[in-house]
This record gives sequence, structure tokens and C-alpha cells, in this order.
Amino acid sequence: MLEYIDSHAHYDAEQFDEDRDELLERIHSAGVRSIVNMGCNMERSRLSVEYAEKYPFVYAAVGIHPEDVEGTPADYLDSLKKWAELPKTAAIGEIGLDYHYEGYDPQLQKKIFREQLDLAEELSLPVVIHSRDATEDTMTILRERGKVNGVMHCFSGSAETARQVLDLGMNISFTGVLTFKNARRAIEALEAVPLDRLMLETDCPYMAPEPNRGKRCDSSMIIYIIQKIAEVKGVSPEFVAKQTTENTLKLFYKMQ
Ligand code: NI
Repeated sequence: MLEYIDSHAHYDAEQFDEDRDELLERIHSAGVRSIVNMGCNMERSRLSVEYAEKYPFVYAAVGIHPEDVEGTPADYLDSLKKWAELPKTAAIGEIGLDYHYEGYDPQLQKKIFREQLDLAEELSLPVVIHSRDATEDTMTILRERGKVNGVMHCFSGSAETARQVLDLGMNISFTGVLTFKNARRAIEALEAVPLDRLMLETDCPYMAPEPNRGKRCDSSMIIYIIQKIAEVKGVSPEFVAKQTTENTLKLFYKMQ
């Protein structure tokens, strides 16, 4: 049985309301060694922490997602800090920039992003970065820090951007997008990422890999992402699972 870590999931999503307990227990017995549940806003960060308390194999990340920056309370950093100091909070995330939908406020996104990068640095915690249609600004902000202890999640950039992210000292993780028919760009980026800098994630309930594309995704579907990485890298699925587990535990050191 393959054992692996889902480094980025959203089990607080309503898509899991009907069967969350049963599903998590089932996939855990089927090889999902541990899961990091992301925070996206205050309420969902609180839920991440709650799940980490409830399920032994679930860890929390806490943070404000760029699409959720509107209405963030003035004292949000105090709450994030309190949650981040709990023993099972592994990272600050997901944080970053997202210019995909109209009506976003780039200045507010950048401010909240920088403040959370500062918090992570203060607490010596890794960060989980979300960047969509905002590569240039994201890279500018990350380069200001010199080195960044973190992972670029749901990587959708070019091989060249992947190399720049690696140069910052960061890991890269790919979702089920790797298995899609039009994934040529993602595969090229994957080729540029050495196996010791790679992490696995679903971003579930979204991004279900083929052959489940469009369905509700859960962590057990990482198996298809592992198979694709193994094929592209010319190694065994067991090696991909083992190496990515090591990489994740090294970055998210509180999970060890
Ligand atoms: Ni996510």
C-alpha cells in the first residue's frame, strides 16, 4: 500500500459536510498518512485548527487567502498567531495574490500577503503560497525576502518560473492538473523540479485528477498524481510517495 501526505486540502468545504468523518477515516486507512488542511479566512482557519484537534492525522495551516482579504478584521494577526503557535499548526497558508476575478484590490492583497509573510518569519513557520494570474507581483514580493521557507501550491506557471521559485529555496506542489489532457505546460514545469523539492497535494474538493476530473476530489485520488509524476520522472510510484513524504515532513517540521 502506498503511503503519502496530502499537503494541501480543504476538508472544511461544504462538499464534505455529509460524510467528513467517515471519509477521512476511510482514506486514512487506505494510505493517506496525513493531511494539511488549509486556512482561507478567519472562520476557515479556525476550522482547520478544530480538525487538527479532532483527527490525529490532520494538521492545520492558518491564513487569509487573497480572495478573502476583504473584511479581514484589524486584529487578524493576533488570532492567526495564537492558532499558529498550537502544536499541530504546520504552516501559514494559504496566502498570496490572486488577480483572476474582477473587483479584487491588489493593494490590500499585497498588504495582507506581506503581513502574513512577516508573521511566518517571526514564528519560524513555513508558508503555503497561492498565486493565480499574479506571477510578477508574487515573485517581486517573495524576492524581497531573499529566501522563502515554503511551498508554491497548485503550480501553474512555466518551467522558467518553476526554476525561479526553486531559486528562492521553495518547494513546488502540483495538483490533479498534471493528469489533464492539456497539461503540457504543467508537465514541462514538473520536469524542471527535482524530486527532492516536490510535494503532493489535491486542493480537494477541487482539481480532481483524471479519471475523476469534475467530481468531488479527496486525498485518496493523489494516487493518480503519483502515477503521473512517476511516469514523467522515470521512477516508481513508491519512490515518489516516499520522497514527497520526506520533503513535506522536512518543510512542515511540526508534523514530524
Ligand atoms: Ni487551496
